[in-house]
Amino acid sequence: MVNITFIGIGYVGLVHSVMMSQLGYKVFCIDKDKNKICNLNKGILPIYEPKLKEYTILALKAGKIEFFDYYPNIIKTSRVIFIAVDTPQLKSGEPDLSKVFNVINKLQLFINEQSVIVIKSTVPPGTAKKIMEDFLKNYNLNVNVVSNPEFIREGSAVQDFLNPHRIIVGSHKVEADLTLRKLYKTFIDKGIPFISTNNSTAELIKYASNAFLATKITFINEMANLCESIGCNIDQLSLGLGLDSRIGNEFLKVGPGFGGSCFPKDTLGLLKIARNHSQKCYIVDATIKSNNQRIKYLIDKISLILGGNLKGKRFAVLGLTYKADTDDLRNSPAIKLIKALKYKNSQVIAYDLIGMKYISKYIKSLKCASSAEEACKNADAIIIATEWLEFKGLNFKTLIKILKSPTIIDLRNILDAKQVVSLGYNYYPIGYKL
Ligand code: UGA
Repeated sequence: MVNITFIGIGYVGLVHSVMMSQLGYKVFCIDKDKNKICNLNKGILPIYEPKLKEYTILALKAGKIEFFDYYPNIIKTSRVIFIAVDTPQLKSGEPDLSKVFNVINKLQLFINEQSVIVIKSTVPPGTAKKIMEDFLKNYNLNVNVVSNPEFIREGSAVQDFLNPHRIIVGSHKVEADLTLRKLYKTFIDKGIPFISTNNSTAELIKYASNAFLATKITFINEMANLCESIGCNIDQLSLGLGLDSRIGNEFLKVGPGFGGSCFPKDTLGLLKIARNHSQKCYIVDATIKSNNQRIKYLIDKISLILGGNLKGKRFAVLGLTYKADTDDLRNSPAIKLIKALKYKNSQVIAYDLIGMKYISKYIKSLKCASSAEEACKNADAIIIATEWLEFKGLNFKTLIKILKSPTIIDLRNILDAKQVVSLGYNYYPIGYKL
């Protein structure tokens, strides 16, 4: 069994380390958060991600994974060391690489020139090169640094890991590339494309992928606005557009704008990268601006539905997380919407089984209900802000009796329009009118 090490057991590090252990490797995981490590060794996960807990427990029981809050000597037996620390956004828009370089400083005691250091964290082009130069300058070590960006999504990370669209590997040495080919043999044997390139190209592919997807979403949201004005139907437009295989049907779902910890950070990061190289990314710039306008557009729409004044209106907001199947509230459009509604002196009662747990970190005195039904009591309107399956399955027949007004504003277009209208609701989806 080959040993590998992961440093930085956040979202990306945890999913990849656990899933690499499922491929048959013995994995050592290091994170400085003592509490997190202690819990992980007991099978308690810091995040909610479908199926991840089960895989972690399996790996722990089989002795295929170990978690440490320090750098144990055993990691000297790992030829491949993954760095997956987070690279949060600085005020300047650039990612903060200090954690990556801190790891490098510690790591020099545990590696040799045969070691392959793999950067999983999202870092700007040129970072791997700088790491190699630093190793040489500071420690006289000529190490291999490979750029291997990740493309897993929160909420479907396990599935995405098991079924990647491609594996991107950027390196400067054939041997390092070959080591990664061996490591990912399971996927290569399944026919998954393995793209070998240089470090900077691999690093830029990550930013370009996220910026392109964010642009696709923003494009469809703008088309939805146009559909509302003209009287067209966005869901049918998305279908008609996406069936062109040159366009593709994914990431064409309308909504309250993109959020989360990646698209907002990486679109801004790409702008900064372009600026640093005296280039302009007009399209990405427009994507960011358009997405920033999304909540204002929706607030105006909601206001119009409610008769032009939001003051004193009571809303049941269903969903807090930035998308379904995650407990992540970072840059959640639902939270931005709630803040905007409160700013207009509306009353908000929210419900999100998973997201409510940490909401006080983002909005102080938000009233949350213990069920969707409770949130809806006496509401002037229900707003569906996150596409949790639970909301699709609500009993709208009985729900209508406890509402002040039978109004549903569906910002994710998840409900069956005909069905709710037949029950007596005024239903307002995004991008089409009934
Ligand atoms: C995104 C990328 O999809 C991953 O490939 C990448 O690895 C990850 O960022 C990352 O850089 O770590 P993630 O942020 O987890 O993944 O979630 P997505 O499913 O991509 O959704 C991002 C946002 O776009 C959400 O707010 C979601 O609601 C929105 N979205 C997505 C839409 O509004 N419409 C769509 O059709 C798809």
